[in-house]
Amino acid sequence: MMGPMILVGRGLSRRPRLWTKGLPPGCRVMLVSEPGVWRLHGAPVAAALRRAGFRTGIHILPRGEKAKTWPAVERLLRAMLEAGLGRDSALLALGGGSVTDAAGFAAAVYMRGIPWVSLPTTLLGQVDSGIGGKTAIDLPEGKNLVGAFHQPRAVVCDTAWLDTLPARELRSGLGEVLKYGLLFDPALRAPLRKGRLERVIRRCAALKARLVAQDERETKGRREVLNFGHTIGHALETAASGRLRHGEAVVCGMRAALRLSQARAGELESFLKTFPLPRLRLRESAVMENLRRDKKARRGRLRFVLLKAVGQPVVSDRVREASVREAVRFILGELR
Ligand SMILES: NC(=O)c1ccc[n+]([C@@H]2O[C@H](COP(=O)([O-])OP(=O)(O)OC[C@H]3O[C@@H](n4cnc5c(N)ncnc54)[C@H](O)[C@@H]3O)[C@@H](O)[C@H]2O)c1
Ligand SMILES: [Zn+2]
Repeated sequence: MMGPMILVGRGLSRRPRLWTKGLPPGCRVMLVSEPGVWRLHGAPVAAALRRAGFRTGIHILPRGEKAKTWPAVERLLRAMLEAGLGRDSALLALGGGSVTDAAGFAAAVYMRGIPWVSLPTTLLGQVDSGIGGKTAIDLPEGKNLVGAFHQPRAVVCDTAWLDTLPARELRSGLGEVLKYGLLFDPALRAPLRKGRLERVIRRCAALKARLVAQDERETKGRREVLNFGHTIGHALETAASGRLRHGEAVVCGMRAALRLSQARAGELESFLKTFPLPRLRLRESAVMENLRRDKKARRGRLRFVLLKAVGQPVVSDRVREASVREAVRFILGELR
């Protein structure tokens, strides 16, 4: 697979000629966002697109997880039809993971698939959810249960967008950055100074893009290592029902996975330990129940990405339930 073009830099979103090369010239586009991001960053992107000659419609999804629902996606699909979008049109998704997941999904199913461009505005989006072509919406029973693989033509990470990101959202993205550090490159740490952030995003985005190119549909095991921290992480995130940001849940999941790995992670481990987390009381039984459901989905065996050492991930489906329970109990204690 040829990966999408990934661009990282300050002010890029105002130069659409750089990132619309893969689209038919002058085509109809629909810029999709949500109220929070639209208010802060929408108008300049729309204006730049129109200046570049694109007939640009605008659609605003509900904020957060509410974007990832059937009614929201149906409204978007009908707005696309009404705006006259055809197979030669494109959808542009401007926002965090909730917008790129939902709008990417709409692009995947509208008229059996039209081109789209991912414009991730959160750090989490720029290093993770905005890249890779996994699009999804939720069901009441669980997150991301309906979706499609649909690669964007381009991923545009304008680092100027991050200036307005609330501290907690920035930290949530840093959780995923730490994941790349533990998996591949201990030099990737929480970027403390602004100047470093751009380089860190470029490196993480390239790491993810490379794994995705080797294993687009997560069938060959190459992409699977990116789930490090996500098995217990997802179970915690679901149990917390909105009180843990994704990156926070992943940090907890990684601490639990390190415990299961019985590996030391040096400086990165200290970063994990001092990572600010909300105080929460979650029920062990609720977390274990979520893990069991996950296990059922994988035909009976939970798969964990473990670390032999920093930079040496291994996948195991032989972790004992008692050890998992102990690791969960440990992390629940840390959250209290
Ligand atoms: N497709 C994937 O591979 C993948 C991977 C990880 C997570 N996800 C999904 O991503 C979603 C979470 O994404 P998220 O954390 O980016 O959340 P989000 O889209 O809900 O955004 C978080 C908050 O930040 C605000 N925001 C976004 N950009 C901003 C900016 N530049 N300035 C100020 N505020 C801004 C939003 O209004 C929102 O309130 C989840 O639904 C998760 O399932 C998908
Ligand atoms: Zn993640």
